[in-house]
Amino acid sequence: MRIILIGPPGAGKGTQCQRLVEHLRVPHLSTGEMLRAAVRAGSAEGRQAAEYMDRGQLVPDSLILGMVTRRLEAEDCRDGCLLDGFPRTLPQAETLDDLLERRAMSVDGVIELAVPRDELVRRMLARKRADDDPAIFSKRIASFEAQTAPLLEYYARQSKLASIDGLGTADEIFERVKQAVQRFKRSHGR
Ligand code: AP5
Ligand code: MG
Repeated sequence: MRIILIGPPGAGKGTQCQRLVEHLRVPHLSTGEMLRAAVRAGSAEGRQAAEYMDRGQLVPDSLILGMVTRRLEAEDCRDGCLLDGFPRTLPQAETLDDLLERRAMSVDGVIELAVPRDELVRRMLARKRADDDPAIFSKRIASFEAQTAPLLEYYARQSKLASIDGLGTADEIFERVKQAVQRFKRSHGR
């Protein structure tokens, strides 16, 4: 299964993916984690990405696409993967579709985690990641609304979108996530 998790910063994408990897036994690809690893390693990609991440902006599509394409071509992704934080722009989504289509593969389903802003802010304040500073966090939310939210319509048109309520305990939300995955499986006759 190839499943995408979409949601604003702090929606619980990483939290739910940690549970889903156990359930589906496919690798978890978080572009945010990949970028933070590149920043820690001090690579050229990492240095370029940090300039954007530190301002709450999306890093350029070209940088992300190079990184994700390499990762998706790895052997462990042959039978599926969980995409967390990618795609985040329309060009990223279109490139992903093209890349999979060339390999006779496709996205099986997209899960939107919907969480109101005041709860996102509460979660961010309780955590201490470098980009959880309130001013940067507002910019991350604005980037989501302007550049990523339009993808919901893109996947709804393909009948691949499952929007779920991201409020509640992580375990309660995971039950909803598993139900969405079951629906994706049924619609693929698995
Ligand atoms: P990324 O790392 O993807 O960050 P994000 O989207 O801002 O989301 P977070 O990781 O903060 O939140 P999450 O939804 O994973 O929630 P989590 O489970 O951690 O991206 C970082 C940056 O990298 C971007 O700003 C951009 O610059 C760049 N980037 C990444 N991908 C890119 C791309 N494709 N294109 C361009 N640029 C890209 O939960 C959040 C907190 O809430 C945690 O503390 C958690 O414990 C807590 N929590 C989780 N669930 C619950 C719950 N149910 N109740 C209470 N607390 C909860
Ligand atoms: Mg995350």
